[in-house]
Amino acid sequence: MVALKAGVIGHPIGQSLSPILHSRWIAAFGLDASYEAIDSIDETGFKSFVSSMEQNGFAGLNVTIPFKRVACEVADELTETAQHIGAVNLLICREGRLIGDNTDAYGFRAALESMALDPAPRRARVLGAGGAAPAIVVALKQAGVEDIEITNRSPEKAMLLSDQFEIKMIDWGARDQDLDGVDLLVNTTSLGMKGQPELVMDMTELPSSAGVIDIITTPAETALLAAARKRGHTALNGLPMLVHQAVPSFEAWFGHRPHDGELAIRFLEQNK
Ligand code: ATR
Repeated sequence: MVALKAGVIGHPIGQSLSPILHSRWIAAFGLDASYEAIDSIDETGFKSFVSSMEQNGFAGLNVTIPFKRVACEVADELTETAQHIGAVNLLICREGRLIGDNTDAYGFRAALESMALDPAPRRARVLGAGGAAPAIVVALKQAGVEDIEITNRSPEKAMLLSDQFEIKMIDWGARDQDLDGVDLLVNTTSLGMKGQPELVMDMTELPSSAGVIDIITTPAETALLAAARKRGHTALNGLPMLVHQAVPSFEAWFGHRPHDGELAIRFLEQNK
């Protein structure tokens, strides 16, 4: 009998790399545990699964698209970070209570630090205002980025984040203008993801010292990243963020902290 379970819940979920990552760590620590992908088609299904998960042997769950916001409602208690971001990607069952946390900002920040950009970014442009954007804005603020600009195809969503986090909003049509003072460009849109159109972005004005992050994991090298590398920028895909956000999740459920960051990133690159 499996002693302890965890998993990732969302829809669609088939593409998630979390099961192979957590299963690698479960094996490395020799735990009697499992990590499953749970496909939940709607909020009712999500809430119903969550309400009985502790009885069903779950230590907790990762929450992904499209339930990160509604997960705030199901938690008995939210950490300060989850409240600040307004989204939960980690649920922890603790003595009958459900704690909602968010490790995406931590994951992004750890990924950003691994780039060791010189100079450290002071001005960043964030493309996209969907599910991933709030945690990234919070991470950039935590990392001391003073000027954060957000742009999104649908301006109303960018406006909401601009108000929530007191950051500048720019028009989607102007996303590649005035890039000469930008130290970090982050794509949080789904453009460039397998099956989606490419992101059209002219980086001519971007200083060569600027970093470029695309949080997409499939493909590992989007056209944006390939173009950025070709221009000499330090460029990073979404795998480091994915691994770093998973570390505190694993530790919260299973009491062991994985320390194989780089190897785990390579492992995902090779096995996805
Ligand atoms: P959601 O915002 O519905 O939670 P998401 O996957 O978290 O979905 O976010 C998708 C992001 O990619 C959004 O910023 C979205 O822009 P809109 O808010 O305007 O939809 C962006 N995106 C997706 N397809 C796009 C396209 N063809 N052109 C520009 N941006 C696009």
